[in-house]
Amino acid sequence: MSKEVIALGSDHGGFYLKSIISKYLENLGYIVKDFGTYDDKSVDYPDYAYKVAASISRGEIERGVIICGTGIGISIAANKFPGVRAALCWDSYTAKMSRLHNNANLLALGGRIIGIELAKDILNTWLNTEFEGGRHLRRVNKIDELAAKFWLEYLEANK
Ligand code: RB5
Repeated sequence: MSKEVIALGSDHGGFYLKSIISKYLENLGYIVKDFGTYDDKSVDYPDYAYKVAASISRGEIERGVIICGTGIGISIAANKFPGVRAALCWDSYTAKMSRLHNNANLLALGGRIIGIELAKDILNTWLNTEFEGGRHLRRVNKIDELAAKFWLEYLEANK
């Protein structure tokens, strides 16, 4: 079985947790594609959300983990991209539900909010929980369908 690639991205607020998660994932046998940032100098989280989310939107990578100080900014930014479902999780339950019901393809974490062991627990749950499909697939599909409908109408009305 080929190894799964997991994308990583963070700003300075998530840099430390990203470095821990990167090693942890490699020890579990995953291939890590780290989109930065690569040190703790202050940067803007939308730039790193963009790198990871655009890669998911283009179909280059299936899943990833994004981290900023709270996880809020980077998840808001990532969710602007088609096909991206970034879920900000703070315990195993939210991680489990984000996979079962939302088929989340990005896990967002708050590097200044949660501890290392909790982050590993959340990550394990998230990586190992399958999407339930069924009625949840219909709802998940509506996210991009309705956004596309909005943009088509908006662009038509503003040309
Ligand atoms: C950076 O100071 C901080 O605002 C950022 O990491 C994040 O928490 C934003 O949502």
